[in-house]
Amino acid sequence: METLFTRLGFSFFLLYFLVSCDLSLSFSPVDNYLVNCGALLDATVDNRRFVSDSSDSSHSHLSSPQLFSLCAGTLLPGLPPIYHTARVFKAPSKYVFDVKDPGTHMLRLHFHRFSSPQLNLADSKFHVLVNGLVALTNFSGGGSVGPKVIEYLLWFNSEKVEITFLPAEKSKFAFVSAIEVISAPKDLILETAQSVNGDKVENLNKQAFEVMYRVTIGGPKVTPFNDSLWRTWLPDDDYFKSKEGSNRVYFSGRIKYQEGGASREVGPDNVYNSARLIESKNASIPNVNLSWEFPVIEGYQYLVRLHFCDIASISLGLLFFNVYVNGHLAYKDLDPSAVTNYLLASPFFVDLVVDADHSGIVNVTVGPSNKSMAYAVDAILNGVEIMKISNWMGSFDGTLPAESVLKCLPRKRRVGFLLPLIALVCLLLSLSAIIRRRNEKVESVLWSKLPMEVHEISPKQGKQQLSSKV
Ligand SMILES: *[C@@H]1O[C@H](CO)[C@@H](O)[C@H](O)[C@H]1NC(C)=O
Ligand SMILES: *[C@@H]1O[C@H](CO)[C@@H](O)[C@H](O)[C@H]1NC(C)=O
Ligand SMILES: *[C@@H]1O[C@H](CO)[C@@H](O)[C@H](O)[C@H]1NC(C)=O
Ligand SMILES: *[C@@H]1O[C@H](CO)[C@@H](O)[C@H](O)[C@H]1NC(C)=O
Ligand SMILES: *[C@@H]1O[C@H](CO)[C@@H](O)[C@H](O)[C@H]1NC(C)=O
Ligand SMILES: *[C@@H]1O[C@H](CO)[C@@H](O)[C@H](O)[C@H]1NC(C)=O
Repeated sequence: METLFTRLGFSFFLLYFLVSCDLSLSFSPVDNYLVNCGALLDATVDNRRFVSDSSDSSHSHLSSPQLFSLCAGTLLPGLPPIYHTARVFKAPSKYVFDVKDPGTHMLRLHFHRFSSPQLNLADSKFHVLVNGLVALTNFSGGGSVGPKVIEYLLWFNSEKVEITFLPAEKSKFAFVSAIEVISAPKDLILETAQSVNGDKVENLNKQAFEVMYRVTIGGPKVTPFNDSLWRTWLPDDDYFKSKEGSNRVYFSGRIKYQEGGASREVGPDNVYNSARLIESKNASIPNVNLSWEFPVIEGYQYLVRLHFCDIASISLGLLFFNVYVNGHLAYKDLDPSAVTNYLLASPFFVDLVVDADHSGIVNVTVGPSNKSMAYAVDAILNGVEIMKISNWMGSFDGTLPAESVLKCLPRKRRVGFLLPLIALVCLLLSLSAIIRRRNEKVESVLWSKLPMEVHEISPKQGKQQLSSKV
C-alpha cells in the first residue's frame, strides 16, 4: 500500500513537474490583445480569451449611430464563436492599443462575411490603416467561404497602435470580426537578410510584413492550437508543382531545437517533422528538382523564409543540395549537418529577399547538387513562409500613402436614422452594463471615433441624449 501511494505521489509530482515545465517554456507575450468584435460576451478559442469590445471603460462608442454590432442569424457548425459577430462601422473608426513592449508585433485581423437580416457583410467596402501604414484598400472581407485571417508583422516603437477602419464609399461600411495584437519573440524577424542577387538587406526587422503564405511541406495543416504563436500553416499541395521525384517523409522523433538555429517560436515541431524530399535509391542521383510556385504581385519585395530540418538522412554528412529562388542559385551545396553543428533533426531557416517580377510568381526550388550522394537523401524542404514587404508608400495594397487614403474619404452621410436607433442603443447599453459589471477586471480595449467626425453628433452629446432617455 505504502509503496503504491509513494509511487502515485511520485508520478503525480513528475506529471506536475512536466506540465509546469511545459508552461514555463511556452512563449508569453507582453502585449497580448485579443478582441471579440461586436460581441457582448468574451469568447474562448483554443484556450485563448477574446475580450468583447463592448466591455471597455469608456461608453462613448455606443453613442454613435454610425456603428453597431451584428450577429449572424444562421451559423456554420464548428465555426469558432469569434466569427458569430462582427463590429460594423458606417464612419471612420479606430481601435487603439497600448504598446508596452516596443518591437515586432503580430497583428491579425479576422473577417468572416455572414449575412444577417439587417446587413450582408459581403456588401462592405473599406480601407484599413495601421498607424501610418495602409494595410487594406477597397477590401470587402475576403473570400466568401469561411473566415479570412490577415496577419502582419509590424515594428512598433510608438506607445500606441491605432487600427483605423474607413468605409470606402458613401453607401458602404467597414467590419471586423476579431483582432489580435501580440508581441512577437525577439528572434522572429532578424536584422539582416540576403537578397537573391547577393546584396545584404539591413534593418529588415524595422520593415512591415504581410504574411502571404505559410506552408508546412508534406504534412497536414498545423492549426493555432499546435503553434506556439497561434499561427496556421497550410499544406503545400496547392503550391507544389513537381510531378515526379518527390517523397513525403514524416518523423516521429524529437525535433532538436538548438541555440542559433530555429526556435520553436520560429517554427513548431509539427512543421519540422514533415517534409518532401528527393532520395536516391540506387547508384544514380535523380535528375529532378522539387519546385513550389507562389503567386505574388509585381512591384513588391517579398521575404522568403525556407525552413529545413534533416529528419530523413540515416547519418550525418550525407545530404547536400542546391536551393534556387526564382531561378537564382541561392544556396549551393547546402550542408544541413554543418549548419546545425552536426546534429540530425535540428531545425534551421534561411531568409531571402526577392523582387516580384512580371512573372507574378515566387519560385522556390530544391534539387541535387554536385556533392549529392547516391543511396542518400538529395534534397529536402520542410516549410515556406512568404511575406510581402510594404512598398515605398508605406502600403501593402496600392500606391496611395495613408494621408491620401484618409483624404479621399466620401462626404459625410446625413444622420437621419439616428432617432430610431436610440432605442436599440439603450438596450445595448443596459445589456453591456450588466456584462461589464461581470467583466470589471478584463483588460480594456479602447476604440474611438476619428476627430474628423466632430461635425456629426459628438460622443458627449450622444451620451447626454441617451441618459435623458434612460
Ligand atoms: C495537434 O498536433 C497533434 C500531433 O501532431 C495532432 O494529433 C492534433 O490533432 C493536433 N491538434 C489540432 C487541434 O490541430
Ligand atoms: C535508379 O532508379 C530509378 C527510378 O527509381 C530509375 O529510373 C533508374 O534507371 C535507376 N538507375 C539505375 C542505374 O539503376
Ligand atoms: C533544377 O532547377 C535549376 C534552377 O532553375 C535548373 O538550373 C536545373 O536545370 C534544374 N534541374 C532539373 C533536373 O530540372
Ligand atoms: C520554377 O522553377 C522550375 C525549376 O527551376 C522551373 O522548371 C519552372 O519553370 C519555374 N517556374 C516559373 C514560373 O518560373
Ligand atoms: C556542377 O558541376 C558542373 C561540372 O563541373 C559545373 O559545370 C556546374 O556549374 C556545377 N553546378 C553547380 C550548381 O555548381
Ligand atoms: C478604391 O477603388 C477605386 C475604384 O477602383 C479607386 O478609384 C480608388 O483609388 C481606390 N482607393 C484606394 C484607397 O486605393
